[in-house]
Amino acid sequence: MLLLIFEFLMNFFEKDKQTAMEAIDLAQWIAFAPVVFQAALSLRDLGILEAIEQSKNKGLTLEEITSVTKLPHYGARVLLEAGLGIGLVTKLDNNYFITKAGLFILNDAMTRVNMDFTQDVCYEGMFTLRESIQKAKPTGLEVFGKWKTVYEALAHLPAQAQKSWFAFDHFYSDGSFPQVMPILFKHKPKLILDIGGNTGKFTLKCLNYDPEVKMTILDLPGQLNMAKQNIEKEGHLNRANFHEINILDDSQKFPKGADIIWMSQFLDCFSEDEIVSILKRCHEALNENGKVYIMETFWDRQRFDTAAFSLQMTSLYFTNIANGNSQMYDSAVFNKLIDKAGFKIIEETDEVGISHTVQVCVKK
Ligand SMILES: C[S@@+](CC[C@H](N)C(=O)[O-])C[C@H]1O[C@@H](n2cnc3c(N)ncnc32)[C@H](O)[C@@H]1O
Repeated sequence: MLLLIFEFLMNFFEKDKQTAMEAIDLAQWIAFAPVVFQAALSLRDLGILEAIEQSKNKGLTLEEITSVTKLPHYGARVLLEAGLGIGLVTKLDNNYFITKAGLFILNDAMTRVNMDFTQDVCYEGMFTLRESIQKAKPTGLEVFGKWKTVYEALAHLPAQAQKSWFAFDHFYSDGSFPQVMPILFKHKPKLILDIGGNTGKFTLKCLNYDPEVKMTILDLPGQLNMAKQNIEKEGHLNRANFHEINILDDSQKFPKGADIIWMSQFLDCFSEDEIVSILKRCHEALNENGKVYIMETFWDRQRFDTAAFSLQMTSLYFTNIANGNSQMYDSAVFNKLIDKAGFKIIEETDEVGISHTVQVCVKK
């Protein structure tokens, strides 16, 4: 039975499952995808979906919708007609009703985080995706200024883009952290390196979970400052260290003596060669019996094809905005890099949080 389920998971992308009619429908969805996206966002942010939802089973006429939203009659009408085609609203007699998809666009936290990230971080830049692919450069990042990677830009992004970036990042990792704590603290680690610790959320979780553990965060200066402020607010500065690093510089080594090195949603920010270089430095820094814990979202390890789809699309954010050479990996590609750096995987847990896999690695 287990084998059957596994085979089913592996088969998402092996066959063309669509009929000709379904395929031509999909082709039109793709042809109009940016328009569909902007229409759905407008229906959400201009208050139309909310007004219809509030009417419950009664529904609302176009006139009632313009009266609640204060939108011009013409604008509300074209958007609502687009909403019919997209499937966010239905119309019976003269009344509009919200559909299940409309409710998800309006209320589902994951959908909102994904849409905000697409709009505020990716949308404008994605116009240059072709160029990013050809040059292996994050050409879309130019929308925000002259930066080499989004990570250097993060602390300086416009407020809305920064808010949506962090909301997207935290939405996925935050939900996984509580599940990981008992696994991580099973052998009472004394010192954990949190590489790419960002604003300190994971480090704070650990400091609150175990009153004796010491944590060292490694990150770029902008993020490290935010982490320091957050950890100070909770009164834990005495057990936290902050190690400024640009990990892309091979000559910058990691502090030695850790029992655990933790990297969450971190290695996907780098190319294959860069990942090997980072893991080799983990190898040098780690205690002889230490373990590396990697938490990643692999598109081939998802239960649902829509989850794999979301990750495959997120890869193109890495291509166009983040740095031009990283991605949400296929675990088969990623695992070869772990091996190349001198580690072996001794434990793997899928379905952690919404979409993560946790890999425990030791020196070979
Ligand atoms: C996607 S975030 C993951 C944050 C956090 N670990 C989590 O699970 O939410 C990647 C982190 O890697 C850091 N990072 C990216 N490039 C880096 C570099 N060249 N040197 C050091 N840190 C870097 C970023 O600043 C960011 O905090």
